[in-house]
Amino acid sequence: MGMRPGAIIFLLLLIKLSAGTLNLDLLASYGLWDSWHIRTVPVPQAKYDFIIVGAGSGGSTLANRLSENPNWRILLLEAGKPEGIFNQVPLIVSFFQHTDYNWGYKLEPQDNACLGMENRVCPWPRGKALGGSSTINYMIHTRGNRLDYDHWAHLGNYGWSYEDVLPYFKKSEKLRISDSYNASYHGTTGKLSVEHAPYHTPISRAFLETGRLMGYNILDYNGPEQVGFSYLQLNMDRGARCSASKAYLSFNPSNLDIITEAMVTKVLIDSKNRAYGVKVAIKNMNYKILAAKEVILSAGTIDSAKLLMLSGIGPREHLEELGINVLKDAKVGYNMYEHVGFLGLTFLVNDSVSLTANTIFQLEEMWRYAIDRSGPISIPGGAEALAFLHTKYSTDSRPDLELLFVGGSLNSDGDVAIRKGLGISDNLYNAVYKPIENVNTWSIWPIVQRPRSHGRIKLRCADPSVPPILDANLLDDPYDIEIILEGIKKGMEISQAEPFQRYNSRIHDIPIPGCSGFMFASDDYWRCAIRHLPSLMDHQIGTVKMGPASDPSAVVDPELRVYGVDGLRVVDASIMPTMPVGHINAGIYMIGEKAADMIKRTWTTPKSHRCF
Ligand SMILES: Cc1cc2nc3c(=O)[nH]c(=O)nc-3n(C[C@H](O)[C@H](O)[C@H](O)COP(=O)(O)OP(=O)(O)OC[C@H]3O[C@@H](n4cnc5c(N)ncnc54)[C@H](O)[C@@H]3O)c2cc1C
Ligand SMILES: *[C@@H]1O[C@H](CO)[C@@H](O)[C@H](O)[C@H]1NC(C)=O
Ligand SMILES: *[C@@H]1O[C@H](CO)[C@@H](O)[C@H](O)[C@H]1NC(C)=O
Repeated sequence: MGMRPGAIIFLLLLIKLSAGTLNLDLLASYGLWDSWHIRTVPVPQAKYDFIIVGAGSGGSTLANRLSENPNWRILLLEAGKPEGIFNQVPLIVSFFQHTDYNWGYKLEPQDNACLGMENRVCPWPRGKALGGSSTINYMIHTRGNRLDYDHWAHLGNYGWSYEDVLPYFKKSEKLRISDSYNASYHGTTGKLSVEHAPYHTPISRAFLETGRLMGYNILDYNGPEQVGFSYLQLNMDRGARCSASKAYLSFNPSNLDIITEAMVTKVLIDSKNRAYGVKVAIKNMNYKILAAKEVILSAGTIDSAKLLMLSGIGPREHLEELGINVLKDAKVGYNMYEHVGFLGLTFLVNDSVSLTANTIFQLEEMWRYAIDRSGPISIPGGAEALAFLHTKYSTDSRPDLELLFVGGSLNSDGDVAIRKGLGISDNLYNAVYKPIENVNTWSIWPIVQRPRSHGRIKLRCADPSVPPILDANLLDDPYDIEIILEGIKKGMEISQAEPFQRYNSRIHDIPIPGCSGFMFASDDYWRCAIRHLPSLMDHQIGTVKMGPASDPSAVVDPELRVYGVDGLRVVDASIMPTMPVGHINAGIYMIGEKAADMIKRTWTTPKSHRCF
């Protein structure tokens, strides 16, 4: 949900005014305290042991853990700024897509998707801040399925089976949920807070009740079983956002230098193909900084791939066509996957049991959030609960469908931020959603879990300031649409159940312009609607694929070292070889934790015990 600018200023005032009555602990979780305490430095030293590029989920985790060795000097370079106090407020998440906390990337015009967006272009937000995308995301914490990681191991990635990675999930986690979760799956002493939102809309209770009526369990989807219904587990710290920077960078080790507004443009690689430093522009001053041990790219799925290609590591033909000297021919930029669902499954209700602009942007609610950190403003963008389910196409014990429950819909912010963030055309919005602005609604986003469509990132030119070509090729494989269609049918069934009928729930049936040739709610209508209003989950992965030496499409090895270049690793979502079930951020923290241990092992094993 977005927020009127006036309301935001007002909220700021409230938070400031009430600061006198809040204790420091509460203040800390607003981010005020933290942002004062993330120590950044204005200029770099000439040389470090490790240079980490990008302070997102992966990079922040890694910087924290590497700095545990007091003998190492570490530099963390981040293109964005420190996060601000508004990033802490969960409900207004889509507002940040309109600020410079977002890189503002957009897909190429799509053939099979984004048909309801302006010029067939879907925005693809990425965070640009200390904390990276975790400062603008929906905070949903799901680890994926056991089989996802067992599959990675099966592909030849030693050390990545579920048994192997579970300790790192636990290590990252500070679970603050008092339900009877199985302790052998959870950590309580990690850096990353995991909570339920302190407030739920009445209509979200109907979702869980319906799950129970349909015979499913209400469960901890990060525990032994995944199929069932649950309120969201969130990266939330007492009602405020817990970003990667809050979790991992709000401490003060003297051996870690953090520099913001630092845009790395190239990895420096010598004639023996060893990475020895980076080229970086810090507030428009150019530097070459040296790394004695390793350079680590944590710039995310789009920018790590881009930096590798700019540095001469990538597909030979593509780089040569741009005049880039090829140091290592590699499949960088291929294998780009994204989770896609459907935005338009909207239901109307008569009572005010869900979120609307009129009820949220009340003085009373802002006050409640400022004092209590509760109420509807504590719900991240309106997302409240989920179900992981099997469709008839499912082939193993992994759920192939997620239903994300939202206590509102595209109309619920009175057209302030959501529509523009998603790029939805005026024509579609005005026809379908304008008429129900300020009506109480709820929705379900059905999301295909292991999408088959995939795309590719290419450079547009050799100039680092130019955004790359993002050809996601969404919904190219009909399988993805069929899974989402099954999800729509499940959503319709859920809406018919007694807990929702209690509120007279009914489908919002204004057809999408462009699909009105099909009978409303027929299968073909929905297929058309999915192509018009896909929900991109911003779970970009795979462009720097991890795999064994025998895999020609692999760019990094199972220890995340770039093949063919020494002293260079990649630690972020780009290394994921296949898509995990659910949302991917928890998995990236796990990757950061695990990478730190692998790097420590490399550099602390006595030479006489090393094997090549
Ligand atoms: C709007 C949105 C909602 C999302 N919701 C969820 C959710 O609810 N749950 C979930 O699990 N996942 C969610 N995600 C996805 C998740 O947040 C990301 O996948 C994850 O944060 C990515 O981590 P990363 O370390 O790979 O990259 P990032 O966190 O994106 O970090 C990359 C960092 O590198 C910096 N950088 C890039 N290029 C350079 C350069 N050249 N020089 C210096 N620095 C550079 C960037 O500014 C950024 O800070 C969402 C994402 C978005 C955008
Ligand atoms: C917790 O999970 C472990 C491992 O799956 C299992 O052995 C144990 O019985 C579970 N404990 C409870 C209380 O369910
Ligand atoms: C709910 O609202 C609709 C449309 O305004 C109206 O037709 C209907 O009678 C209402 N139903 C109930 C149960 O109040």
